[in-house]
Amino acid sequence: MDRDQELRQKVQQEVEKHQVTVASDPYRPTYHIAPPVGLINDPNGWIQWHGIYHLFYQWMPFKTEHGAKFWAHLSSTNLVDWEEEPIALAPSDWFDKDGCYSGSAISHDDQLHLFYTGNVKNNSVRETYQCLATSNDGVHFDKKGVQIELPNGFTAHFRDPKVWKEDGKFYMVIGAQKEDETGSVVWYKSEDLRDWQFQGILAEGFGYMWECPDFFSLDGQNVLLFSPQGLKADGINYRNVYQSGYVLGEWTDHFAFGAFTELDRGFEFYAPQTTLDEKGRRLLFGWMGVPDQKEEYHPTKKHHWIHQLTLPRELKLKHGKIYQKPVEELVQLRDKFLVNTHGPTFKSIPRASEMLLNEISGEKGYITIFDYATIDFDNKKRTIKLSRPAIDNGEIEERVGIVEKELKEIHIFIDHSSIEIFINGGELVFTSRMFADISHSTIEVQAQGQLSLWSLKQKF
Ligand code: FRU
Repeated sequence: MDRDQELRQKVQQEVEKHQVTVASDPYRPTYHIAPPVGLINDPNGWIQWHGIYHLFYQWMPFKTEHGAKFWAHLSSTNLVDWEEEPIALAPSDWFDKDGCYSGSAISHDDQLHLFYTGNVKNNSVRETYQCLATSNDGVHFDKKGVQIELPNGFTAHFRDPKVWKEDGKFYMVIGAQKEDETGSVVWYKSEDLRDWQFQGILAEGFGYMWECPDFFSLDGQNVLLFSPQGLKADGINYRNVYQSGYVLGEWTDHFAFGAFTELDRGFEFYAPQTTLDEKGRRLLFGWMGVPDQKEEYHPTKKHHWIHQLTLPRELKLKHGKIYQKPVEELVQLRDKFLVNTHGPTFKSIPRASEMLLNEISGEKGYITIFDYATIDFDNKKRTIKLSRPAIDNGEIEERVGIVEKELKEIHIFIDHSSIEIFINGGELVFTSRMFADISHSTIEVQAQGQLSLWSLKQKF
């Protein structure tokens, strides 16, 4: 048996071995994507191809820590029901033996192309290769090996190729650390997806490494999305260990950009990736986790899995700001309509539920979920605050966002151990894990507004 088959067989055994323990975890999500066993991180290869949505993700099946990642694969026709597909990439070759790291997908000549980073470590010395795999059926992928080697002027922290087509040409951005150990994004050009010409640095300026770049046009503006490392906390900003956010700007031979804005204001969000779907929507998935941020304290590790992805979101640019909305397909998740009222206390709320509070009036209010997470708002200060007990020591920690005008709407998705909170139709989003005591099932709403609550269907 070759190395690839051997690894795939080992994964299968690992999934089977822990299936029951994983499924019995009360914190297991029932409508978010989570790993069958082990660790999930970045969404990868996100694309709609011949009508079908394909989503891949970074997967370490053998432990609940990071390591030599696989590309797991799911497909969907409606963004709500997901089919598990065979593993797309296993770290079985010399050029990716320590991980098939993050990357993207593109369709060309009726084939699905995956560009990813081959991570190699020999005696703790890192090497990086930008690799290609292609598929005719969207299920089986043939590795085509190394396409791009590390250019001069950069360290081996050079990864996460995102590829797109524009005006008949192909482009690629890669997250890169310069030799002086500062973060940047570089770009390449190609006529045929095979021969790539290095174009230089697209953007740089702060932090020591920029991961997972994504470059696209949104409502007529160029957007560079990336996950910088090395930013210091500054007031209400950059509170997580690493950030994810965007800059808007003008693209010529490089990218002249404005202020960096965090995409999400919650505790766990990183490494998002977007795609343009066949309806012309810019859709985003993110990882509901942050590397090196108290990962060792997650209670789900006892059940042999850790982390999950966000819900799919549609992006729009409004008044120079990216808005993120849960995709409209998610209404199909709604099961029972529980209430349509004004509050204040709701008992026995299911662990998979959706809550919409709109037409908010009054200066202040709060929502407490399962005696764990509290969302406070103050319409005079225009602030929204999410607080929860810290995952490691239980001390209350908080994240704050400020709305442009006033708070009108709070839309919440709860899935066993996570919450995603969309403020004012996506002006601000707070994404967080929520490890509430499973005996707590009360939601308290002290706010003036119209409240609707639904239980949501189980999809996983
Ligand atoms: C971001 C990241 C990427 C890398 C991948 C490895 O979370 O560090 O830069 O490709 O995860 O799993």
